[in-house]
Amino acid sequence: MKVTVVGAGAVGASCAEYIAIKDFASEVVILDIKEGFAEGKAMDLMQTASLNGFDTKITGSTSDYSKTANSDVCVITSGIPRKPGMTREELIGINAGIVKSVSTSLIEHSPNTIIIVVSNPMDTMTYLVHKTTDLPKNRIIGMGGALDSARFKYRLAEALGAPISDVDGMVIGGHSDKGMVPLIGKAVRNSVSVSEFLSEKRMDQVVQDTKVGGATLTGLLGTSAWYAPGAAVSAMVQAIACDTKKIFPCSALLAGEFGLSDLSIGVPCVLGANGIEKIVEISLSDAEKTKLTESAEGVKKTNGLLEF
Ligand code: 2OP
Repeated sequence: MKVTVVGAGAVGASCAEYIAIKDFASEVVILDIKEGFAEGKAMDLMQTASLNGFDTKITGSTSDYSKTANSDVCVITSGIPRKPGMTREELIGINAGIVKSVSTSLIEHSPNTIIIVVSNPMDTMTYLVHKTTDLPKNRIIGMGGALDSARFKYRLAEALGAPISDVDGMVIGGHSDKGMVPLIGKAVRNSVSVSEFLSEKRMDQVVQDTKVGGATLTGLLGTSAWYAPGAAVSAMVQAIACDTKKIFPCSALLAGEFGLSDLSIGVPCVLGANGIEKIVEISLSDAEKTKLTESAEGVKKTNGLLEF
C-alpha cells in the first residue's frame, strides 16, 4: 500500500506520522513545494521508526510527482490554512488553483488512485476535483465529517463526564462553522441516547461547541488545527487500505441521495478498498433533513465561486 500526502505542513505531516505508526502502509511519500521541507519532515519521521516501532518507509520530495507514481491513496492537504477570524470559505481563491493543479499531477502518475481532499473549503475543493478530473466518483472523498465527529464525541464525553470510548456520534453536512449537522438525536453513551443524561440546553451547547470546534482551535493556535485533522484522514486511509467497510461521514458527490444532487457534502459512507463503497442513506428526522438541506445550499453557494 503506497500513500502520497501532498503538503508537508502540520496536517500533512501529522497524517503521515499516524499512517506510519499504524504501520498498514508499505510506503508514504510526502510532497511539498518548499525546497527540502518534505525531505526534512520525512527524514525526521523516519528517525522515529525504531522508537515508535514501524516499518513504513517515509520519503519526501520537493514537488517531484514521479515519486508518487502508482499511489493507492493520495491525500491533498496543500493550500493555505485559515487564520483566526477567517472562515474556511475565504480560502477558496488561493486553494482552488492549488487543489486543481495537485489533483491533476497526482492522477497523471497514479491514474487508479483514490484521492482524499483535506484542503479547505473542503466540500467545494472535493467538488472541484470531481469536476476537473475523470476519476470515478467513489474514488474522490472529502475529509471533514470524520474530524467533526471526533470533535463531537470529545464535547459529548466532556458533557457526560464519560470516557470517549463510551460515546458515539456523527456529524454530517458541510464542513463549515454554520453548515455542520451534529446528529445529537442519534448520539449515544454506550447505546443509551445522550438525551437520557443531558438537558436540551446542554445538548445544544455540545452542538454549538462542535460546530465551531475548528475556529476555537484556530483562535487558540493562531492557525488551523493539525493533530485531529491528521488523525481523521489517517483513519480514513486505514479503512481504505485494510478494506474495513467502516462507516465514516465523508464528503461524497451526491446524485439524489438525501434529495440532494450535484454537490459534495458530508454523508455516511462505507469506506473500503474501492474508496466509497456505499453512501448510506440513514433515516433523518424532519429537523435533521432541513439542516442538511440548508447546509447543502451553503455548500452550493461556495461552489458557485469556482471558476472551471
Ligand atoms: C479544521 O476544522 C482544518 O478544517 C480543518 O480544523
